Amino acid sequence: MLLNTFLNSSFDIKRAREETIACNDIIHFNNAGSSLMPTPVSKALHEYLNKEELIGGYETQDLYVESLNNIYSSAAKLLNCRLDEIAFVENATRAWDMAFYSFKFNPGDKILTTIAEYGSNVIAYLQQAKRFGVEVVFVPNDEFGQLDVSALSNMIDDKVKLISITHIPTGGGLVNPAKTIGEIANAASIPYILDACQSVGHLHIDVQEIGCDVLCITGRKYLRGPRGTGLLFVRKSLLDELQPPMLDQHAAELISPTEYIIRSDSKRFENWEQYCAGKYALGVAIDYALSWNLDEIQKRIYLLADNLRLKLSQVDGVHLTDEGVEKCGIITFTSDQLEPVAIKQALSAHQINVSISSGSGNLVSFEKRGIKEVVRASVHYFNTEQEIDRFVDVLMKTLISC
Ligand SMILES: Cc1ncc(COP(=O)(O)O)c(C=O)c1O
Repeated sequence: MLLNTFLNSSFDIKRAREETIACNDIIHFNNAGSSLMPTPVSKALHEYLNKEELIGGYETQDLYVESLNNIYSSAAKLLNCRLDEIAFVENATRAWDMAFYSFKFNPGDKILTTIAEYGSNVIAYLQQAKRFGVEVVFVPNDEFGQLDVSALSNMIDDKVKLISITHIPTGGGLVNPAKTIGEIANAASIPYILDACQSVGHLHIDVQEIGCDVLCITGRKYLRGPRGTGLLFVRKSLLDELQPPMLDQHAAELISPTEYIIRSDSKRFENWEQYCAGKYALGVAIDYALSWNLDEIQKRIYLLADNLRLKLSQVDGVHLTDEGVEKCGIITFTSDQLEPVAIKQALSAHQINVSISSGSGNLVSFEKRGIKEVVRASVHYFNTEQEIDRFVDVLMKTLISC
C-alpha cells in the first residue's frame, strides 16, 4: 500500500537525486543534523567564493547586490510574511537569541515553554530568570507527548509575558501543535516565539496561519543551504518594541556623537559583516525548496518516515522513541542490543549517516522520559524506500551479530 503510493507518486525523485550528488555514494539520514546541498546551491556558493577570490569581497558584494537582496523576498514567500520582517543571521540559535533577549521582563513575569524545548533556549530562559526574577514554566505534555493545549490555555494569566515553543524538537519525531498554540497566544495578546529550526523546509510553514510573532530558521538542515546561515522572522507589529541586545552600524545609525537611531525593519537584528556567500546560497536554497512545493516535500518526507517507523517497529529489540499525534521526518530509536553510538558507527561503516540525540539539546524531555540518548535517523525528500530497506537490513544484521 505504502509502496504503491510511492510508485504512483508524481514526485520527481530522479531529478532530486541527480541534483544531490552524494546520493551516489552515501545514504544520508542525517538531514536534521545537516542536509546535503543540492547542486544549484553548492554551485552558487562556490561561484560566489570564487568571485571573492578573483575580484575582492566588497567588489563581489557590489556585483551581487541584487542577488543578495533576493533572500528577503524568497524568505518572505517561503513564510508568507513581509520582506522587512526578515533578518539574515549566522544560525537559528543566534536568530532566536537576538529576538528573545530583546524582550523585557519584570520580577514575577512568566515564560511558558514546552517540555521538548531546545536546550539552548532553556539556557537563555534560565539566564533571564536569574537576571530578572522571571519564572520559567514548562507546560505539561498531553497523553501523546505533545504540548497539552488545554493545559496551556489554563495557565494563561496576567503574569505570562511570553509563550515560546520548539515546533519540532531536535531529538524526536514530534510536531508540536503550533497553530493551536498561536490561537491561544493571540487571543491573550501574548507574544509567541516559534523555534522552527527543524520545521522550515520540512513542513509548509505559514506564519500568518500559525500566528507566531517570532520564528527562527537554520540554513543547513531541511532547507539544504550552507552551514553558518540562518534567518529570523519578527512580525512588524512587534518590531518597535524589540530593541536588539546588541547593535552595530548596520542595525542602527549613528547620527551624532551622542545619538543613534535603530533601523525600523528586522535588519535591526543583523550584523554589518555577513557571510555573503552563504547568504547568496541560502537564497538559492530557498528558491530551490519552493520549486519543489513545500506541501509535496512534507508529504514525501512523512511517507518515507512512516515507512521507516513501520519497518523499525518490526526489528527485534528496537524501540521507537518518537512522540506526538503528528510525526515528522525525524525517526528516533534505541535498541536492547547496542548503545546508540555503536549503532551509528556500524551504520557509518556502510556509508549510512545518522546522528545521536543526547545531552542538553533535549534535557527536559529526556529526563522526564528516562532516556539518555537515541539514534536519530532523519529523512528528506531525496531519500528513497530502497535506502530505507538497506538501512533496516544493515541495522538488523548489526543487531543480530552482536
Ligand atoms: C529545535 C532546534 N532549535 C535550534 C537549533 C540550533 O540551530 P543552529 O545550530 O542553527 O543554531 C537546533 C539544532 O539542532 C534545533 O534542533
